[in-house]
Amino acid sequence: MATQQPISKKTACVVGGTGFVASLLVKLLLQKGYAVRTTVRDPDNHKKVSHLTALQELGELEILAGDLTDEGSFDAPIAGCDLVFHVATPVNFASQDPENDMIKPAIQGVLNVLKSCVKAKTVKRVVLTSSAATVSINTLEGTGLVVDEKDWSDLEFLTNVKPPTWGYPASKTLAEKTAWKFAEENNIDLITVIPSLMAGPSLTPDVPSSIGLAMALITGDDFLINMALKGMQMLSGSISIAHVEDVCRAHIFLAEKESASGRYICCAANTGVPELAKFLNKRYPQYKVPTEFGDFPSEAKLIISSEKLIKEGFDFKYGIEEIYDQTVEYFKAKGLLQK
Ligand SMILES: NC(=O)c1ccc[n+]([C@@H]2O[C@H](COP(=O)([O-])OP(=O)(O)OC[C@H]3O[C@@H](n4cnc5c(N)ncnc54)[C@H](OP(=O)(O)O)[C@@H]3O)[C@@H](O)[C@H]2O)c1
Repeated sequence: MATQQPISKKTACVVGGTGFVASLLVKLLLQKGYAVRTTVRDPDNHKKVSHLTALQELGELEILAGDLTDEGSFDAPIAGCDLVFHVATPVNFASQDPENDMIKPAIQGVLNVLKSCVKAKTVKRVVLTSSAATVSINTLEGTGLVVDEKDWSDLEFLTNVKPPTWGYPASKTLAEKTAWKFAEENNIDLITVIPSLMAGPSLTPDVPSSIGLAMALITGDDFLINMALKGMQMLSGSISIAHVEDVCRAHIFLAEKESASGRYICCAANTGVPELAKFLNKRYPQYKVPTEFGDFPSEAKLIISSEKLIKEGFDFKYGIEEIYDQTVEYFKAKGLLQK
């Protein structure tokens, strides 16, 4: 059977190739026949790029240097590209200085990448990886709220109250807002993908922290359950999850779909800690997932809706069962769960 080649080979640049999402995106783009350039902070760091060099057998893949905080460092990688996927972001949940560790470099990175797109004059569309944390954080009370692309997280609350981990949602929200402003002013065709927490197997040498978080109830990591997972439901209003492959497929779908425009939430399932625990306890009884959470809210406050993406014609391949089945197998293969 012939391989799936676009009629004329298009070139895509993926900013931040070493990461969980970006490395799978590079793989899917190569499998679709794109020529791919990906930027990493240090192309000579063999340990960090080995999973990318392994992808070079799938097609035309160049691994180039690019740092979000270096003005002009994306000029050469983006020159001549048709599509740009800006996936990289500084992530440091333990930071004592979120302003300098996450907020400033995320904004600087967006501007540096978009400026290089303007200079290139060949870029037809830019797809920015945003986050559900840019839409879901608000001070509303109750349950049954539905959040969609019209919503923005409450920046005033985040920056004044500074709840734990506030720096990440603030950096993502400010970075996405900066991208929209710059795109409008400079006539850039921008799409933002707004994914929920992601799980599924990773190509990266280390297990990404988001998968560790999604798996906390199964691995029984009390710190992650009590601080991170419960904290996520309290701050973001839900535990919402998607398979990393679906999120990468959505990036490519939206890059290629001419009618697409604006923001797109990408989330396969919305749940909360107690409900997720019950589901996991029943599906994997061998891991004895705890199901008692005292007075912790049994229902999530909100759901984040992927209706716009689905109406655009996107089909999710994986529901919550497949997401966890595959992640459990991935953890077994990594020696993090008993076979
Ligand atoms: N994973 C999730 O559950 C999730 C959910 C919603 C949204 N997202 C978004 O999805 C995107 C990818 O996330 P991920 O989970 O794949 O994260 P990840 O594995 O931590 O990857 C982050 C990437 O950003 C790069 N990076 C950080 N600072 C940089 C800098 N100054 N210059 C250049 N590159 C830099 C990292 O490079 P190094 O390898 O050199 O550190 C890494 O490649 C992010 O925009 C994130 O906000 C993720």
